[in-house]
Amino acid sequence: MTSKVFGLIKEEADRQKYGLEMIPSENYVSKDVLKALGSILTNKYSEGHPGARYYGGNEVIDKIERYAQSLANKLFGTAHAIVQPHSGSPANLAVALELAGPGGTTLGQSLTAGGHLTFGAAASWTGRLFNAIQYGVDPKTWKIDLDEVRSLAKKHKPKFIWVGTTAYPFQIDYKPFAEIADEVGCFLVADTSHISGLIVTGYHPSPVPYVHVITTTTHKTLRGPRGAMILITKKGLDKDPELAKRLEKSVMPGLQGGPHDHQTAAIAVMLEEALRPSFKNYIGQVVKNAKMLAEELGSVSEVHLVLLSLTHLGYGLGYQTQYALEEAGITVNKNTIPGEPASAFYPSGIRLGSPALTTRGIKEKDMVKIASWIRKVLEEVKGHDLPKEQEKRKEFLKSYRQLVHNNKTLKDIRAEVEKFAGKFPVPAVQ
Ligand SMILES: Cc1ncc(COP(=O)(O)O)c(C=O)c1O
Repeated sequence: MTSKVFGLIKEEADRQKYGLEMIPSENYVSKDVLKALGSILTNKYSEGHPGARYYGGNEVIDKIERYAQSLANKLFGTAHAIVQPHSGSPANLAVALELAGPGGTTLGQSLTAGGHLTFGAAASWTGRLFNAIQYGVDPKTWKIDLDEVRSLAKKHKPKFIWVGTTAYPFQIDYKPFAEIADEVGCFLVADTSHISGLIVTGYHPSPVPYVHVITTTTHKTLRGPRGAMILITKKGLDKDPELAKRLEKSVMPGLQGGPHDHQTAAIAVMLEEALRPSFKNYIGQVVKNAKMLAEELGSVSEVHLVLLSLTHLGYGLGYQTQYALEEAGITVNKNTIPGEPASAFYPSGIRLGSPALTTRGIKEKDMVKIASWIRKVLEEVKGHDLPKEQEKRKEFLKSYRQLVHNNKTLKDIRAEVEKFAGKFPVPAVQ
């Protein structure tokens, strides 16, 4: 008897094939990445690091991990690579614990301004384990307020500064951050999770000359399996020759046990793919598609994502828009906007991206079509403002969901979307 799970995987494969995936942190892996990820390497325990394991039988695993490390350094131009973090959040925690120590001061971009939870948000342990100071963006331009970063750094003297974002449609200028960190004498850590694919292909400036450490997930624009890497630059080793060893130990034995060797192997396959010229073409199209999407929706994008404010349509419309788009076969995520006027859970914006669609072969002209569907959905959402009174929200959302579920326009769009999406192959999905 086969497992019930395989039926559910088939169901999810259909959802991926017949819908439009526009969450900017998602992507589709290649057949080869999936093959390595689903391999017998999952059977092995290899606590430790290459050449220094607690278990026997790791000759082959050492070769795989060293290969992944060398490819990562080649791709990014870094001095040392740690490929064992199970995912982005534990990688960031390993770095923060080592560089700041429990109770130490950290400085990072706030969640509502486009930063990540792990940069010291109140809901994350990083907001409780550390004296986490947060910087924001200019509420008018939505760009990082470097004056604020500088004054907070000088005032609080952090052990390190995070430069990285999760919902920021502009390029990042690493040089002024390096000047601030050098002035204060602290470490500078770039979390490039979202934009790593753009950095390694030259579509975004590289942080390597400016920062001491880079953390990145491997499953976003890099198009690999879920996982993360910590990369140490030459500048990092110049500041502290022990930095690579310190961070390696912080990951294991500090925070994790055995690495996921099947994941490491899949990361190596992804890195091989990212080193090919075709990956540069792919990222070039990702950027063009995001720019076209932004223009069609009356917004801007210099990267792979669009952060769309819905305040011109009403109050707190992020959740309602996400829900209506999902009914229409388009997956996005609700997101806070700078100076969020509603709430973190029922915010005023949505975040959309082009990486996954571009993997399926979607081009600018298709983005124009997709944007027109999105605009139609927005018309349906208009007027469904979030009640300002908290106690009225539950009832409102219940009846809103029912209304949207029976909406004829959304049903018609969904039929068109399914027909359209079905024509674009999803790698590794038949
Ligand atoms: C900038 C950034 N850092 C870290 C993470 C965390 O990665 P993970 O979900 O793998 O823990 C994310 C994920 O969204 C991210 O956007």
